[in-house]
Amino acid sequence: MKKILTGLQPTGIITLGNYIGAIKQMIKYQDIYDSYLFIADLHSITIPQDPQELASNIKSLLALYLACGIDPKKNKIFIQSENEYHANISWLLECNTYYGELSRMTQFKDKSQKNANFTSGLLTYPVLMAADILTYDVDYVAVGLDQKQHVELARDIAIRFNKKFGDTFKIPEPLMTEEGTKIMDLVEPTKKMSKSSENQKGVIRLLDDPNTIRKKIMGATTDSDMEIKFDVVNKPGISNLINIYASLTNKKINEVEELFIGKNYGELKKNVADIVIEELSTIQKKYYDIINSDELNKILDNGIEFTRKIAKNKFELMKNKMGLHR
Ligand code: TRP
Repeated sequence: MKKILTGLQPTGIITLGNYIGAIKQMIKYQDIYDSYLFIADLHSITIPQDPQELASNIKSLLALYLACGIDPKKNKIFIQSENEYHANISWLLECNTYYGELSRMTQFKDKSQKNANFTSGLLTYPVLMAADILTYDVDYVAVGLDQKQHVELARDIAIRFNKKFGDTFKIPEPLMTEEGTKIMDLVEPTKKMSKSSENQKGVIRLLDDPNTIRKKIMGATTDSDMEIKFDVVNKPGISNLINIYASLTNKKINEVEELFIGKNYGELKKNVADIVIEELSTIQKKYYDIINSDELNKILDNGIEFTRKIAKNKFELMKNKMGLHR
């Protein structure tokens, strides 16, 4: 069975866009791949975090993924910072990565320009990510488009290390999530629905209550036309609502269009709100069961035990190859 890995940063509450774009896809992958899923908490501290908030976000994110249908029997689930080998391996890789490569990464350039007081962790972030990936010899890395460049860097580092010290790492390939269905902001439907968006009205969070969800959807931006038709260029708002409806009911776009022939925008919005509320209530009920149980701890204990062994072996192998031994 081929292996797949993904890391999730525990910042912000995930959105309906994350659910439809990425999580639903991961739920499909877990049946066909040997899956590794971890909370990338070491990545999130490259920018300042409130310690209490961070700790609670870690648990909450895990509980949400489980509530959405990530199956702990089909995934190795763990917390990055509990596996001390990731940061150790990262150092060995850093010494095989060039400053120039890191300073050219798009995400680094963006984030370092936004805040002049950035940490050196922001620069070396992609090497830690390479360590996460290369440790497990995975075939695929599931990422959004914004992380593709980092996976490519991980490949370059692996190829370089293998050449210099002999075969050590499998060369992974990026597997894009969000390629199929990109859910857009409800207020500005030409922009992706993002967990860091400033205007909360355009973003549905997985833990929003039914009233809030309904208000946000009823207030979604549409157009002055009257036809319920999928046309991203001329009718981005309506197309987005159709997309949400289609994804959650597993229908095709044209089936949804047919369903709403002769109906008005208000009826479309009401139906979309009903479907979203129904889906999210089920997830929320599971979420509150999980967050208040001991199940999470058991899952994490199993995950860390399993992955620490693999990571220790990889770390020892690398050290031996590099001459770090007696
Ligand atoms: N950097 C990724 C993000 O912000 C999270 C991440 C960390 C990751 N390590 C990873 C993703 C390894 C895939 C594989 O989304």
